[in-house]
Amino acid sequence: METLDWSNLGFGYRKTDYNVRIYYRNGKWGELETCSEETIPMHMAATCLHYGQECFEGLKAFRGKDGKIRIFRVDENAKRMQSTCRGILMAELPTEKFQEAICKVVKLNERFVPPYESGASLYIRPLLIGTGAQVGVHPANEYLFIVFVTPVGPYFKGGFATNPYVIIREYDRAAPLGTGCFKVGGNYAASLRANQKAHDLGYSCEFYLDSKEKKYIDEAGAANFFGIKNNTYITPKSTSILPSITNKSLMQLAKDMGIAVECRQIPEEELSTFEEAGACGTAAVISPIERIDDVENNKSYVIAKDGKPGPVCTKLYNKLRAIQYGDEPDVHNWITIVE
Ligand code: PLP
Ligand code: COI
Repeated sequence: METLDWSNLGFGYRKTDYNVRIYYRNGKWGELETCSEETIPMHMAATCLHYGQECFEGLKAFRGKDGKIRIFRVDENAKRMQSTCRGILMAELPTEKFQEAICKVVKLNERFVPPYESGASLYIRPLLIGTGAQVGVHPANEYLFIVFVTPVGPYFKGGFATNPYVIIREYDRAAPLGTGCFKVGGNYAASLRANQKAHDLGYSCEFYLDSKEKKYIDEAGAANFFGIKNNTYITPKSTSILPSITNKSLMQLAKDMGIAVECRQIPEEELSTFEEAGACGTAAVISPIERIDDVENNKSYVIAKDGKPGPVCTKLYNKLRAIQYGDEPDVHNWITIVE
């Protein structure tokens, strides 16, 4: 196994041994190929370069106490990538091929899966791009699917610790009938200015309101939002947010714990009523929210009054981690063990 300072890994790219690739040509997907090259030779008129025919996914593999490697909800990422492909007219990769590619790339890079209890995990990044040349605005006729992996630590400072966030009203990430619900690179390009502003102001990350009315909470730049009050888990319903697989899992775990779940519009002012809140996602896991400031409106919604993660966030976090690391039974069939 690789010797890295596992417990102090940040969230970034680190070279591993192999990536895997599948090409789509002549109307069909080819065979899975193993590659040790980090670069992609490409036509200069490829649609991913000009017209944003590009999407990606993010999921994680975990090493358990028993030494086994577990991948979390890979079928859900396959389905979301297919939905994104329908959204920007790219060739859809079948679920079985997606799963085969993920298992293969994890197995090939087994020595980079962090040890149990290091707090780190193996981040898996599938990427699908239009490689066929077009000069007019049309979908490509050739695509490339690649998966690389990289060992990572926490995305937000301190891991499971509270952080301050900020609502940015100046820039929108996505439009109500745009591509916000798909995992396309363009959404992240649209988020860069707001993200930079948030960081410049000393916050962990930016929050977006719905772009039409600027009234309801949408999500953060790289994570969904949930709030907790009166034994209820409340998360935004919006056409412009990414359907987070972590959020979907937390809603299930909350129900299992006897917590009510509401998926509905959340007016900004309601932030003042939450007992706890969190940002959730593959990279973020659960990142408990200390406060959300609306600087342009001179408001501050302090959620974690003692500065500590609350009891419901803590319980959900521990449960999710226990399933991911194999410490508790996988009753919902979320785990794929890499053989
Ligand atoms: N929202 C955005 C904009 C994201 O980039 C992510 C990360 O993937 C999420 C939410 C969380 O989604 P998931 O839980 O599927 O990782
Ligand atoms: C993820 O959580 O997988 C993400 O994609 C977040 C971010 C790194 C884009």
